[in-house]
Amino acid sequence: MSDLSGRTVLITGAAGGIGTAMAERFAAAGARLALVDIGDASDLAARLGPDNRTYSLDLGDPAAIAETVARIGAEMGIDVLVNNAGVGMVFPAETADLAAWDLTMNINLRAPWLVAAAALPFLKASGRGRIINISSQAGLVAIDEHAAYGASKAGLILLTKIQALEWARFGITANSIAPTVVETPMALVGWSGEKGVKARQEIPVGRFAKPSEIAAAAVFLAGEDAGIINGETLVADGGFTIR
Ligand SMILES: NC(=O)c1ccc[n+]([C@@H]2O[C@H](COP(=O)([O-])OP(=O)(O)OC[C@H]3O[C@@H](n4cnc5c(N)ncnc54)[C@H](O)[C@@H]3O)[C@@H](O)[C@H]2O)c1
Repeated sequence: MSDLSGRTVLITGAAGGIGTAMAERFAAAGARLALVDIGDASDLAARLGPDNRTYSLDLGDPAAIAETVARIGAEMGIDVLVNNAGVGMVFPAETADLAAWDLTMNINLRAPWLVAAAALPFLKASGRGRIINISSQAGLVAIDEHAAYGASKAGLILLTKIQALEWARFGITANSIAPTVVETPMALVGWSGEKGVKARQEIPVGRFAKPSEIAAAAVFLAGEDAGIINGETLVADGGFTIR
């Protein structure tokens, strides 16, 4: 397992299902955590170690992003950035739901761009900065009713490649992870019953991902051994997108 002792990992959406698993795995790897969420992650931070901190932030607010990320960098440094926060709003492509489209793009695509830009001075100072953007299988293939979500996640994959291209010269790598459905409490509600049975059948391994599996992939990408991997998408989907 990667040893991340002495490194600070900034995780957005840390109060959520995958974010919590990320926090647990990064803490187990020795990292100090800067947990960012619009919700409350303070119990999680305290449970995982005395040096961890939480920052309340609405990722829809660009000025707040700039201010909060600069504060995190000044207080803790930033060695690893995990852009994990996201919203999953689904609707048929003919539905002109501007509010849902804009929120999806702002949280899933604009925020990762702005958070990374604000974190850049600290990632540079780290000398071995890592960016890990949490995309989705829906950013790779067409899935019903995923026009906004899928477009935001496909955009995030390309944003990752551009970050990888532009910032490698600063010792920074940028990669994305594209999970299938992950068994968080919320996802299990959305994919319950017959819909969930059918969705599992469409995945060659016959099951959804566990939050810990996505967290383990992120810890790997953050570690020393992944230093040559840059601009890549680690597809953690049980084979959903291979055919
Ligand atoms: N769960 C899945 O099936 C699945 C599959 C593929 C990809 N993903 C992606 O993984 C990431 C995490 O998903 P999850 O399942 O843990 O979701 P989740 O809803 O459990 O957690 C998302 C977190 O983001 C936070 N957040 C939302 N809007 C915010 C805002 N404006 N400002 C700050 N924080 C905000 C929420 O408070 C929440 O804690 C997302 O990017 C999601 O798109 C999830």
